[in-house]
Amino acid sequence: MKIAVYPGTFDPITNGHIDIIDQALEIFDQIVVTVAENMWKTPLFTLEERIEMIRATVLPMQGVRVEAFEGLSVEAARRVKAVALIRGIRTATDFENEYQMTLMNRQLARDLTTVFFMTGERYSYIRSSLVKEIARFGGDVSLFVPPVVAERLKKKFARDYSGG
Ligand code: COA
Repeated sequence: MKIAVYPGTFDPITNGHIDIIDQALEIFDQIVVTVAENMWKTPLFTLEERIEMIRATVLPMQGVRVEAFEGLSVEAARRVKAVALIRGIRTATDFENEYQMTLMNRQLARDLTTVFFMTGERYSYIRSSLVKEIARFGGDVSLFVPPVVAERLKKKFARDYSGG
Protein backbone atom coordinates (compact mmCIF):
# COMPACT_ATOMS: atom_id res chain seq x y z
CA MET A 1 0.00 0.00 0.00
CA LYS A 2 1.73 3.19 -1.17
CA ILE A 3 0.50 6.23 0.74
CA ALA A 4 1.35 9.82 -0.16
CA VAL A 5 0.61 13.03 1.67
CA TYR A 6 -0.52 16.15 -0.20
CA PRO A 7 0.01 19.10 2.16
CA GLY A 8 -1.29 22.61 1.64
CA THR A 9 -3.42 25.41 2.95
CA PHE A 10 -6.21 24.86 0.41
CA ASP A 11 -7.89 28.20 1.10
CA PRO A 12 -9.90 27.10 -0.81
CA ILE A 13 -9.21 23.96 -2.83
CA THR A 14 -9.22 24.65 -6.59
CA ASN A 15 -9.61 22.54 -9.72
CA GLY A 16 -5.83 22.74 -10.02
CA HIS A 17 -5.39 20.93 -6.70
CA ILE A 18 -7.97 18.33 -7.74
CA ASP A 19 -6.02 17.76 -10.95
CA ILE A 20 -2.90 17.04 -8.88
CA ILE A 21 -4.81 14.57 -6.68
CA ASP A 22 -6.16 12.86 -9.82
CA GLN A 23 -2.67 12.46 -11.23
CA ALA A 24 -1.26 11.24 -7.92
CA LEU A 25 -3.94 8.55 -7.69
CA GLU A 26 -2.47 7.00 -10.83
CA ILE A 27 0.69 6.26 -8.87
CA PHE A 28 -0.25 5.96 -5.21
CA ASP A 29 -2.87 3.76 -3.54
CA GLN A 30 -3.91 6.38 -1.06
CA ILE A 31 -3.57 10.15 -0.92
CA VAL A 32 -3.90 11.87 2.42
CA VAL A 33 -4.69 15.55 1.87
CA THR A 34 -3.29 17.29 4.93
CA VAL A 35 -4.70 20.73 5.52
CA ALA A 36 -2.47 23.22 7.30
CA GLU A 37 -3.62 26.01 9.56
CA ASN A 38 -0.89 28.21 7.96
CA MET A 39 0.85 30.57 10.30
CA TRP A 40 1.89 33.08 7.61
CA LYS A 41 -1.35 33.69 5.75
CA THR A 42 -4.68 34.55 7.35
CA PRO A 43 -7.07 32.14 5.69
CA LEU A 44 -10.49 33.22 4.47
CA PHE A 45 -12.00 29.88 5.46
CA THR A 46 -11.54 28.20 8.83
CA LEU A 47 -9.69 24.92 8.93
CA GLU A 48 -12.99 23.09 9.41
CA GLU A 49 -14.57 24.84 6.42
CA ARG A 50 -11.59 24.04 4.20
CA ILE A 51 -11.65 20.38 5.25
CA GLU A 52 -15.40 20.16 4.71
CA MET A 53 -15.11 21.54 1.17
CA ILE A 54 -12.28 19.16 0.28
CA ARG A 55 -14.14 16.17 1.74
CA ALA A 56 -17.26 17.03 -0.25
CA THR A 57 -15.19 17.37 -3.43
CA VAL A 58 -13.16 14.17 -3.12
CA LEU A 59 -16.12 12.06 -1.99
CA PRO A 60 -16.48 10.31 -5.38
CA MET A 61 -12.72 9.67 -5.61
CA GLN A 62 -11.46 6.30 -4.34
CA GLY A 63 -8.42 6.37 -2.04
CA VAL A 64 -8.42 9.98 -0.81
CA ARG A 65 -8.50 11.00 2.86
CA VAL A 66 -8.55 14.49 4.28
CA GLU A 67 -7.00 15.47 7.62
CA ALA A 68 -6.01 18.58 9.52
CA PHE A 69 -2.39 18.89 10.51
CA GLU A 70 -0.34 21.09 12.72
CA GLY A 71 3.43 21.21 12.59
CA LEU A 72 5.79 19.89 9.95
CA SER A 73 4.58 18.26 6.75
CA VAL A 74 7.23 15.56 7.14
CA GLU A 75 5.76 14.68 10.54
CA ALA A 76 2.28 14.47 9.04
CA ALA A 77 3.74 12.10 6.46
CA ARG A 78 5.41 9.96 9.11
CA ARG A 79 2.22 9.76 11.12
CA VAL A 80 0.27 8.22 8.26
CA LYS A 81 3.23 6.12 7.10
CA ALA A 82 3.48 7.91 3.77
CA VAL A 83 6.36 7.18 1.41
CA ALA A 84 6.06 10.50 -0.40
CA LEU A 85 5.03 14.13 -0.23
CA ILE A 86 3.12 15.39 -3.25
CA ARG A 87 3.43 18.88 -4.66
CA GLY A 88 2.10 20.49 -7.81
CA ILE A 89 4.17 22.67 -10.12
CA ARG A 90 2.46 25.28 -12.27
CA THR A 91 5.20 27.68 -13.28
CA ALA A 92 8.93 28.27 -13.04
CA THR A 93 8.28 30.41 -9.96
CA ASP A 94 6.65 27.43 -8.27
CA PHE A 95 9.73 25.41 -9.08
CA GLU A 96 12.09 27.80 -7.24
CA ASN A 97 10.03 27.68 -4.06
CA GLU A 98 9.32 23.99 -4.25
CA TYR A 99 12.97 23.16 -4.83
CA GLN A 100 13.96 24.90 -1.61
CA MET A 101 11.15 23.29 0.33
CA THR A 102 12.07 19.85 -1.02
CA LEU A 103 15.70 20.16 -0.03
CA MET A 104 14.71 21.39 3.40
CA ASN A 105 12.25 18.54 3.87
CA ARG A 106 14.90 16.09 2.70
CA GLN A 107 17.15 17.26 5.52
CA LEU A 108 14.32 16.71 7.98
CA ALA A 109 13.30 13.29 6.68
CA ARG A 110 15.81 11.44 4.52
CA ASP A 111 13.46 8.54 3.89
CA LEU A 112 10.69 10.69 2.45
CA THR A 113 10.60 11.54 -1.25
CA THR A 114 8.85 14.57 -2.74
CA VAL A 115 7.04 13.77 -5.96
CA PHE A 116 6.00 16.59 -8.31
CA PHE A 117 3.15 16.62 -10.74
CA MET A 118 2.82 19.24 -13.44
CA THR A 119 -0.52 21.00 -13.16
CA GLY A 120 -2.56 20.54 -16.35
CA GLU A 121 -2.27 23.60 -18.62
CA ARG A 122 -5.98 24.27 -18.14
CA TYR A 123 -5.28 25.00 -14.50
CA SER A 124 -1.82 26.53 -14.57
CA TYR A 125 -3.04 30.09 -13.94
CA ILE A 126 -5.32 29.21 -11.02
CA ARG A 127 -4.35 30.44 -7.58
CA SER A 128 -6.52 30.45 -4.47
CA SER A 129 -5.91 34.14 -3.78
CA LEU A 130 -7.01 35.18 -7.29
CA VAL A 131 -10.12 33.05 -7.01
CA LYS A 132 -10.98 34.76 -3.70
CA GLU A 133 -10.39 38.20 -5.21
CA ILE A 134 -12.70 37.46 -8.14
CA ALA A 135 -15.39 36.03 -5.84
CA ARG A 136 -15.10 38.98 -3.45
CA PHE A 137 -16.05 41.33 -6.27
CA GLY A 138 -18.92 39.17 -7.47
CA GLY A 139 -17.14 37.45 -10.40
CA ASP A 140 -17.96 33.94 -11.54
CA VAL A 141 -15.40 31.43 -10.25
CA SER A 142 -17.18 28.25 -11.33
CA LEU A 143 -14.50 27.50 -13.94
CA PHE A 144 -11.75 27.46 -11.33
CA VAL A 145 -13.14 25.66 -8.30
CA PRO A 146 -15.41 22.71 -7.51
CA PRO A 147 -19.15 23.59 -7.26
CA VAL A 148 -19.21 23.32 -3.46
CA VAL A 149 -16.41 25.89 -3.21
CA ALA A 150 -18.04 28.30 -5.68
CA GLU A 151 -21.21 28.10 -3.61
CA ARG A 152 -19.39 28.71 -0.30
CA LEU A 153 -17.48 31.67 -1.73
CA LYS A 154 -20.69 33.21 -2.98
CA LYS A 155 -22.31 32.80 0.43
CA LYS A 156 -19.30 34.07 2.31
CA PHE A 157 -19.04 37.29 0.35
CA ALA A 158 -22.78 37.84 0.18
CA ARG A 159 -22.75 37.65 3.97
CA ASP A 160 -19.77 40.01 4.20
CA TYR A 161 -21.49 42.58 2.03
CA SER A 162 -24.64 42.38 4.11
CA GLY A 163 -22.55 42.81 7.24
CA GLY A 164 -23.55 39.40 8.64
N1 COA B 1 -3.40 24.35 -8.72
C1 COA B 1 -3.88 25.52 -8.32
N2 COA B 1 -3.33 26.26 -7.35
C2 COA B 1 -2.25 25.77 -6.75
C3 COA B 1 -1.70 24.55 -7.10
C4 COA B 1 -2.32 23.82 -8.13
N3 COA B 1 -1.86 22.66 -8.55
N4 COA B 1 -0.62 24.33 -6.34
C5 COA B 1 -0.51 25.39 -5.54
N5 COA B 1 -1.48 26.26 -5.78
C6 COA B 1 -1.65 27.58 -5.19
C7 COA B 1 -2.47 27.62 -3.98
O1 COA B 1 -3.81 27.82 -4.31
C8 COA B 1 -1.87 28.79 -3.24
O2 COA B 1 -2.35 30.00 -3.76
P1 COA B 1 -2.32 31.35 -2.92
O3 COA B 1 -0.88 31.63 -2.62
O4 COA B 1 -2.93 32.30 -3.85
O5 COA B 1 -3.13 31.08 -1.69
C9 COA B 1 -0.41 28.71 -3.58
O6 COA B 1 -0.34 28.02 -4.79
C10 COA B 1 0.42 28.00 -2.59
O7 COA B 1 -0.32 26.94 -2.09
P2 COA B 1 0.25 25.57 -1.63
O8 COA B 1 1.11 24.97 -2.67
O9 COA B 1 -0.87 24.76 -1.09
O10 COA B 1 1.20 25.97 -0.53
P3 COA B 1 0.78 26.54 0.78
O11 COA B 1 1.61 27.75 0.95
O12 COA B 1 -0.65 26.69 0.93
O13 COA B 1 1.24 25.33 1.70
C11 COA B 1 2.72 24.04 3.01
C12 COA B 1 2.57 25.14 2.00
C13 COA B 1 1.57 23.97 4.00
C14 COA B 1 2.79 22.72 2.28
C15 COA B 1 4.07 24.29 3.70
O14 COA B 1 4.10 25.61 4.19
C16 COA B 1 4.29 23.33 4.83
O15 COA B 1 4.70 22.21 4.61
N6 COA B 1 4.01 23.80 6.06
C17 COA B 1 4.10 23.01 7.26
C18 COA B 1 5.33 23.41 8.05
C19 COA B 1 6.56 22.81 7.45
O16 COA B 1 6.69 21.62 7.29
N7 COA B 1 7.49 23.70 7.13
C20 COA B 1 8.73 23.32 6.55
C21 COA B 1 8.62 23.35 5.07
S1 COA B 1 10.19 23.02 4.34
